[in-house]
Amino acid sequence: MPFRTIIEPFRIKSVEAARFTTREEREAALAAAGNNVFSLHGDDVLIDLLTDSGTGAMSSAQWGALMQGDETYAGSRSFYRFEKVVKDITGYKHVIPTHQGRAAERILFHTILSKGMVIPSNNHFDTTRANIEVEGCEARDLVIPEGRIPSLIHPFKGNVDLGALDRLLAEEGARVPLVMVTVTNNSGGGQPVSLENLRGVRDLAHKYGKPFFLDACRFAENAYFIKTREPGQSERTPKEIAQEMFSLADGCTMSAKKDGLANIGGFLAMNDDAWTEGARNLLILTEGFPTYGGLAGYDLEAIARGLEEVTEEPYLRYRIRSTAYLADKLIEGDVPIIRPPGGHAIYIDARALLPHIPPLEYPGIALANALYLEAGVRACEIGTVMFGLRPDGTEAPGAMDLVRLAIPRRVYTQSHIDYVAEAVLAVAARRAELRGWRITSAPKVLRHFTAQFAPVAG
Ligand code: F0G
Repeated sequence: MPFRTIIEPFRIKSVEAARFTTREEREAALAAAGNNVFSLHGDDVLIDLLTDSGTGAMSSAQWGALMQGDETYAGSRSFYRFEKVVKDITGYKHVIPTHQGRAAERILFHTILSKGMVIPSNNHFDTTRANIEVEGCEARDLVIPEGRIPSLIHPFKGNVDLGALDRLLAEEGARVPLVMVTVTNNSGGGQPVSLENLRGVRDLAHKYGKPFFLDACRFAENAYFIKTREPGQSERTPKEIAQEMFSLADGCTMSAKKDGLANIGGFLAMNDDAWTEGARNLLILTEGFPTYGGLAGYDLEAIARGLEEVTEEPYLRYRIRSTAYLADKLIEGDVPIIRPPGGHAIYIDARALLPHIPPLEYPGIALANALYLEAGVRACEIGTVMFGLRPDGTEAPGAMDLVRLAIPRRVYTQSHIDYVAEAVLAVAARRAELRGWRITSAPKVLRHFTAQFAPVAG
């Protein structure tokens, strides 16, 4: 490449207007939302970094593929095209479409779990954890110690602590039905897992006779990190690396709303015939017939095309670089973030930025709310509100208090990101003025979505 500038590897064919608001309008909107940015109307948000899930822009090829959608109830042509693409990447024998990732999780776990089981992973995502806990089981996080220290630089902070996994399988193996690994590790900062570590997990799982499943939502981003960071991998294509990642496991859950480059969809794929039969029966009960699984034929077409585009190298180079670009600006401005930056998001260490706000007064909420009021930017707390509620109803500080700036795929340009960086630096400059929050109402599970907040007095 003769030039250093990495440009967006696409041209824009269709645009959607962004809506600007005044600070007074944002104050009213946030108050009406119970001070929880999840309850804001999207129209009141200028740059929405709440999630990278289902928020990406589809390509013209994907929009074209929609018209090829075959809406046949059973045996749709679009299913077979989707199945072929999934099998090409994953190599798994059975492919079960679902309406999104958590449906794949629920179907897998409800089929195979019984009360008292333990499912290890590097870090479970919140819906994965909730779908395990609702079955009366335990979701155990075994990420390497480096993965728990935001400022520590390590190329594969999503790796599993193999010693801890070995101990768990040796001591409590009878309670472990399968081993999971999340690529990239969303709850741990979007950090990748190395091929070497995946091989280690596979060896341990198989030594104890346990199946190994990937939570594969961001498999392509993980593959690109492997290509650029793992010795001996730089000459391989991201697709070849992804294929090897899947080949080390026995199955996966997948949200096509991330690296499927689609707005909805997901799948469960695996080799085991008996588990598949149970899962398909449950699928029919709650999602739909096995050749559509809660999706329209046109959704299956969009996902099939998206899975092909997502491993293209120019896309992944731009994707990973544009996330790092935001990180560079925040690091330069002394904003504490998880380092190195992850693939799909930047995670600000709100506990470090706002040391005067204790974890049980939710520094992540303080930062997310301030960012919205300051600039109309919506981010997401990943901390004590999301993870601090124990199954017995008591509350404890989460492992970290992070605020995630998740970057939708192919949606925002470099100037949008410049604006976001400016907004974060402006809030950081007056951090001492930010105050804590308390919860005024919350549901018993997944409380971060609908909890309401009021400022802490004083
Ligand atoms: N696993 C991981 C690692 C995820 O990040 C998500 C979703 C899921 C499973 C569930 O997939 O949303 O399709 O049901 N993460 C989104 C996020 C919501 O904002 O990080 P889903």
